[in-house]
Amino acid sequence: MDIKKLIYKSPALAGDYPDFKVETAPDDPFETFYEWFGHAVEAGVLEPSVFMFSTVDEEGAPSSRIVNLRDMEDDGFIIGSNAESRKGQDMESNKSVAMTFYWREVGRQIRITGHAEAAPEEVNRNDFIRRHPASKALSLTAKQSFELGSMEELEREMREAARLVEENPEAFKTWTLYKVVPSEMEFFQARKDLVHTRLKYVRVDDGWEKLLLWP
Ligand SMILES: Cc1cc2nc3c(=O)[nH]c(=O)nc-3n(C[C@H](O)[C@H](O)[C@H](O)COP(=O)(O)O)c2cc1C
Repeated sequence: MDIKKLIYKSPALAGDYPDFKVETAPDDPFETFYEWFGHAVEAGVLEPSVFMFSTVDEEGAPSSRIVNLRDMEDDGFIIGSNAESRKGQDMESNKSVAMTFYWREVGRQIRITGHAEAAPEEVNRNDFIRRHPASKALSLTAKQSFELGSMEELEREMREAARLVEENPEAFKTWTLYKVVPSEMEFFQARKDLVHTRLKYVRVDDGWEKLLLWP
């Protein structure tokens, strides 16, 4: 299996990318994020809200998975998941997390590191109530990331959970919103000539410090 051949057939960073003028970048990284997100939507980036979310367990072992961005507040980014999942358990014992967006159509990467805060139960319950019935049913099985015996077991339990949701649309178990409060945010704009632009924001006492990084 010569995967190198296949890799060379589809080179990375081959797009026609926008400019990123660091001199005029906002002082607040949330503003930069909002600008970049809006640009991604306008540029037709596929699934811009989907990103890699990384957690660390109590022994220091990292793990990553794709999740959806649900919202952005003045001080953090909101995601939703099940508290009993691997990531949920990781965040229970170790609040350190990282978010990585890659928007390949525009050659942009955003890296965010910080800590996660779980929302209070009341907020989670209200969010759960507004979710799609299928998402509710999946969440009601409350076994995310546990070993599954067979696909039949999944289908059987999903049917049972869907019935419970129909009976009681407010049934609620482990659905949890987490806010990621960043300590660092880095904006990477790729260039074909590899003179990439990297702007990093680091949280300081009275706001954010901006610095350029070597690509
Ligand atoms: C496009 C996409 C979006 C996803 N969004 C979420 C999400 O918002 N929340 C979530 O818990 N899992 C989401 N998942 C599933 C996760 O990638 C993962 O399989 C699941 O959360 C279990 O991860 P864990 O075992 O590391 O906790 C998504 C998967 C994909 C492919």
